[in-house]
Formats: sequence, structure tokens, C-alpha cells
Amino acid sequence: NQPRSLEGKTVLITAGPTYEAIDPVRFIGNHSSGKMGFSLAEEASKRGAKVILISGPSSQATDDKNIELHKVTSAKEMLNKVFEFYDRVDIGIASAAVADYAPKEVAKEKIKKNDDSLTIELVKNPDILKTMGEKKTHQFLVGFALETQNEEENAKGKLEKKNLDMIVLNSLRDEGAGFKNDTNKIKIFTKTGKKEFDLKSKDEVARDILDFVEAQLLK
Ligand code: PMT
Repeated sequence: NQPRSLEGKTVLITAGPTYEAIDPVRFIGNHSSGKMGFSLAEEASKRGAKVILISGPSSQATDDKNIELHKVTSAKEMLNKVFEFYDRVDIGIASAAVADYAPKEVAKEKIKKNDDSLTIELVKNPDILKTMGEKKTHQFLVGFALETQNEEENAKGKLEKKNLDMIVLNSLRDEGAGFKNDTNKIKIFTKTGKKEFDLKSKDEVARDILDFVEAQLLK
């Protein structure tokens, strides 16, 4: 962990959930708190990087002046914000839990409780990280994989399919890992390697991830 070891680098991090509106009062979301992404942003900033943090709705806050925080709501807004900066980014880290589907239509008025069942048609959202992978020129790309089964296979599949340099796997089967907790337990995969870490605080996990990124960049 070199002091100011990311000086001169621009690091873009996505964090938190996305909310996909159903009507003016309801949305489809998930349990992401944004903690993992904010820890990564603060650690990258400590190392001297210029940090662009693009976060979905989250109660996390930072007073770090080196972190440029952009708040978004939906996956489409997150995608657009990422691509305002992408050309200038050296390292991209996608820790956001982006909704894979969104309601096809957003009702203009609050949906009334009438029938016994209600069907909402969902359509696929853009895959932000996959698009980053497709448009990669010089960027070093780090994805996350949040899994509940076939963890390693799924993570390696995402590494390949999204054209990533490394992927951080967290499994909801590991106690204290994933959403909301202040802790996480990760495994990192590259095309050729694998490293497993113990359960740690998200600040420590952020340090491990950035140490790993830096070691890869020096290769
Ligand atoms: O926010 P916390 O409460 O601290 O929790 C942290 C976390 C569990 C959310 C985080 O560690 C994590 O695992 N983030 C990724 C969650 C996720 O959506 O994983 P995924 O396996 O579905 O997606 C794979 C990768 O593609 C992720 O890097 C994701 O950001 C990205 N993705 C997915 C779908 C999509 N439409 N666009 C994307 O960019």
C-alpha cells in the first residue's frame, strides 16, 4: 500500500442500487447500501487518485474533496453519467447493484388497488459494465459479481463476457458478505489467477481490491 500510489490516475466507481420507477410512488430496487462503493472511493482518494463516484440512491455520504460525487436514480441515468467521463478514466470499478430489468412503462399516476393481481411488464436495462467493456480502449476494468449459486463459474463467465481485467466475487452464501453489512468476504479472479480473502471490514476490502489493481497495473 504505497502512499499516493494512484497519483495522476482517474478512478470511476459505480455504487449503490438503482431504482426503476413503477409509478410516482413505487420502484423496483435492491438492498445495496452503497457502502462498498464509498469505501472504494475513499481508499482511491487516499492514494491520490481523482475519483468520480456515481451512486444510485444511498444514505452514504463523503466529505472527501477529491471525490466528485454524482447521484443518479435509474440504470439508464447511471449509464449516461458513466459515459460522460469514460474516455478520461484510467480505472473503472463497478460495485453498483444495477437493476437488470425496469418497468416497460412508468404509470403517470399512482396505480390504484383494484384487482387481486397486478402484472407489470419488465424490459431489460442496459448493462453498464458490459458497455464499458465493449468501449474499452485503455481503461483497466474491475467488475463485481454478486452470486447465490455456482459462484466461481458465474464470476468467471462475467469476467469473460464483459471484457473485464478482474472481477470481485461476493457470495450471499458467506455470512457477513454482500449487501448492507459493514463487512465483506471476497474472491478476486483475473483471466489467469485467483485470490481468496478473509471476512473483513469494507474499508479493508477496498484496500485489498486496490492493492490487487495496482499489482496488476505494474505487471
Ligand atoms: O452496497 P453494499 O450494501 O455495500 O453492497 C455491496 C454489493 C454487494 C452491492 C457489491 O459488493 C456488489 O457485489 N456489487 C455488484 C452487484 C451486482 O449487481 O452484481 P451482478 O453480478 O448482478 O453484476 C455483475 C457486474 O455487472 C457488476 O459489476 C454490476 O455493477 C454490473 N452491472 C450489472 C447489471 C447492469 N445492468 N449493469 C451493470 O453495470
